[in-house]
Amino acid sequence: MVQTRRDFLKTLGIASLGMAVASCRVGAADRLPRDFKTPNRTPGDLAADESYWAGIRDLYELSDEFINIESGYYSPAVQSTIEAQIKQLRRVNKEASRYMRGVRVDEFKAAKAKLAALAGCSPDEITITRNSTEALNTIILGLKLEAGEELIYSDLEYPSMVQAIEMRAKRYGTPIRQFDIPNVPSTKEEVIEACRKAIGPKTKVMLISHMVFLNGLVPPIREICDLCHERGVEVIVDGAHAFAHVDWKVPDLHCDYYGTSLHKWLGSPLGTGMLYIKKEKIPRVWPLYAEMEKGDDSIEKFERTGTRPPHSYIGMEEAIRVHEAIGGKNKEARLRYLKNSWVSRVKELPRVKILSPITDDMSCAICSFSIEGMDPKDLADALMNRYGVFVAGLKSEYGVRVCPNLYTKPEHLDRLVMAIRELAV
Ligand SMILES: Cc1ncc(COP(=O)(O)O)c(C=O)c1O
Repeated sequence: MVQTRRDFLKTLGIASLGMAVASCRVGAADRLPRDFKTPNRTPGDLAADESYWAGIRDLYELSDEFINIESGYYSPAVQSTIEAQIKQLRRVNKEASRYMRGVRVDEFKAAKAKLAALAGCSPDEITITRNSTEALNTIILGLKLEAGEELIYSDLEYPSMVQAIEMRAKRYGTPIRQFDIPNVPSTKEEVIEACRKAIGPKTKVMLISHMVFLNGLVPPIREICDLCHERGVEVIVDGAHAFAHVDWKVPDLHCDYYGTSLHKWLGSPLGTGMLYIKKEKIPRVWPLYAEMEKGDDSIEKFERTGTRPPHSYIGMEEAIRVHEAIGGKNKEARLRYLKNSWVSRVKELPRVKILSPITDDMSCAICSFSIEGMDPKDLADALMNRYGVFVAGLKSEYGVRVCPNLYTKPEHLDRLVMAIRELAV
């Protein structure tokens, strides 16, 4: 049952307080009140509380012409994030060069500090990029490797990163090698073992995803980093899908380099990403864009990227506020709950094959599936054209990728399940 905003306020325990209700209503459904408090319940308990999540869903303005279960490419921002962007856009256009030459610098630093706090590291170790591609190209192309030092990468990496690696090999002669990891491992140890076997005598750096774009597999990054470090290998982590999706902090991962897109699971404005480099590794990386004034050990050497739109990182601050008000652990539990809610109803159907790991330790919201005898693109088209359900059709062996998010309604997943049942008969 869809909950009204009033029900939502009730769940916050403030419906009877006239003033609080009035202030919550200012700006209608698109505002998360500044004093918003998520009820103090266990994440597992809250994950199933539809009235709470209906209130969160009210923060979004989404098309009612189709059901969007593809937040993997881009996750829409809540209204207040969009409003923050627009407000900043207007302000910057009023103040123009005066803003750009003035408070812009401090505002960028303040936004970075908020992002660093969310990532659990020092602002001296991160910078705001446009996306994962920019962050990861910086490392892949800029890492100072000696002749003959090898870069290895798993077979489940994103094509743009593979191309960056191939370009590096062509441009600098860096030896590169792809290694296989199981798509649907039964245990985390299988992935660790595949990484262990992949390391050769010349290997100096490994690239691996924190959440595989094809099927949502979450490899055990910390264990992989530890084993790499024992063998003198550095680790670049492609976290495009993992940031603000599964709940973690940089120190948990033990990685050397990390790149992510904030416009995916954080719900930050399009064109925001993060590059993390462990402090002592900063001198090991050339920036993509020339910078000769900042010290070689300063993260700011990656920030001479030309004039950029200040509304994007100001909007990002609001996305961080909303994320923190909900709570990273609560969000992760809800996302996993949504995935489980549709998968559990279709996984036993005779022609349906689940192509992702579905245990809690190796997956969260993303899950892929196929229907025997159907090309994934045709399956995705049928879901959209016949049922109004938008998902991503991947290459044949990877099936169709389903990515629910906080705005996904239970009835959206009911429709997906109904469609799969009908298509799989
Ligand atoms: C695993 C992975 N890495 C990198 C990227 C690139 O992200 P962006 O286009 O935001 O740079 C994607 C995009 O979907 C991805 O899935």
